[in-house]
Amino acid sequence: MANVTIFGAGYVGVPTGAHFARTHQVTIYDPDTNKVENINKVIDNNADSLHIHEKGLIELLQENHENITATTDIKQALENPEIIFIAVGTPPNEKGRANLKYVCSAAEQIAKNIKNDCVVLNKSTVPPGTAYLVQEIINNNLKSDVKIAVGSCPEFLAEGTAVEDLRTPDRIVYGCDDKDAIEQITEFFLFLHGRSTLAPMTTLSAEVTKYAANALLATKISFMNSLAILCDAVGANIREVQEGVGKDTRVGRKFLNASMGYGGSCFPKDTSAIAEYGQLFNSPLEIIESTILVNNKTTDYFSKKISEAFGGDLVGKNFIIWGIGFKARTDDLRESKPVQVARELMDQGAYVHIYDTVRGALENFENENPSYKGKYSIYHEQYEMVNGNIDGLIIGNEHEKFRNPDVNKLDSMRGKHIFDGKNILNNYLIKSLKSKGFNYKSVGKDTVANPVNKTRLIDFLKHEYMD
Ligand code: UGA
Repeated sequence: MANVTIFGAGYVGVPTGAHFARTHQVTIYDPDTNKVENINKVIDNNADSLHIHEKGLIELLQENHENITATTDIKQALENPEIIFIAVGTPPNEKGRANLKYVCSAAEQIAKNIKNDCVVLNKSTVPPGTAYLVQEIINNNLKSDVKIAVGSCPEFLAEGTAVEDLRTPDRIVYGCDDKDAIEQITEFFLFLHGRSTLAPMTTLSAEVTKYAANALLATKISFMNSLAILCDAVGANIREVQEGVGKDTRVGRKFLNASMGYGGSCFPKDTSAIAEYGQLFNSPLEIIESTILVNNKTTDYFSKKISEAFGGDLVGKNFIIWGIGFKARTDDLRESKPVQVARELMDQGAYVHIYDTVRGALENFENENPSYKGKYSIYHEQYEMVNGNIDGLIIGNEHEKFRNPDVNKLDSMRGKHIFDGKNILNNYLIKSLKSKGFNYKSVGKDTVANPVNKTRLIDFLKHEYMD
């Protein structure tokens, strides 16, 4: 068992701390009194909600209550840690670059208060080289004669599945140029995971790995999204293409789902950050730059489909959006595609009724969109607003509740339009919707509802492919 301290009680810090507390003694440090008090109340069984929404997190904190505490007291946080994880925010600045001010301030606080040798690992997503900067800040500010080795331990958990991702990771990447530190970190993780999951490396490689992983996953999605647009144009079905391509284990089926674009606090931010970093080092990352372009283009493509279904005039139209979080089961609206689509519709004169399975997502929408007040309403029962005033339904994220809508209830809508931004409705359902007069639009599988125009394709081939 090791003593560990985590800086930052956010989406990464709290789940990571709760996970480490299975076998280690954990202190979470955050200057925000509300967050810290709330975490401690949950740990002590005196509260049943947290400032972040994460399945199984409350239970995990309570299960490991003996091994975990949260504090705003920096001295208590740095009493005797063997490993410190920095998991503070790195919000993008106006240039799309990760803002390192919280990471640097954590480094300074560590230096000023630490009294024992220890390893400092950065979990926040940062430009490669940041660990060296943190090392320099610490060395310049140390008050005690101790040895601090700084490295990187990027996080790969996804929001909404954090607890499970942490419990069963595919790999744990950590990098440090100090051999003793690497051994110490290896030992720490062996308490929690098998050796085969561990991927020790140099500091810089670990930092690059984080961006590489997110950028490759984002690229898989954008790759499929551009093919989805082609599928709609010719009459193929992207879902089938995804299966056909993804069943090749060299490719893998995951993250091939075409959609109205990826969102969240990670893919958009990290693809922009590493693309810009590549430019600064005169090593442009052209594929990632295209990934970003395609992502934006796909959202526009989807919004345009909605507008075209109404002849380009959305004034006075009423829509329902199911799912406003950037993906299912999160209250996080950062770079959320359904939010972008909702704003676009409101900008064009439509009114939107918004539902999400996560109450916090709806509250966040209200807090973050004051200028749209009066152009939307939020509601809490999936079918509550499905009625004769509605012109179209938009599926915003991939929650199971949206996969099998009650066709009879939808039939009460005056406008028979379904826009499936995540391609989640199955063929059977789409056909039954069609039989009731619904117009089904998606990102690459419109063909399920609209037969292929074979004559047009044959004529095209005759015209373009024969001398
Ligand atoms: C992502 C990565 O998946 C994590 O491994 C990483 O640790 C995390 O970023 C991070 O850097 O902190 P996250 O942003 O929480 O996790 O969510 P994802 O599940 O990856 O989804 C991102 C977006 O891609 C969502 O909008 C989702 O709907 C979309 N998506 C995902 C698709 O459009 N198609 C897919 O096939 C998969």
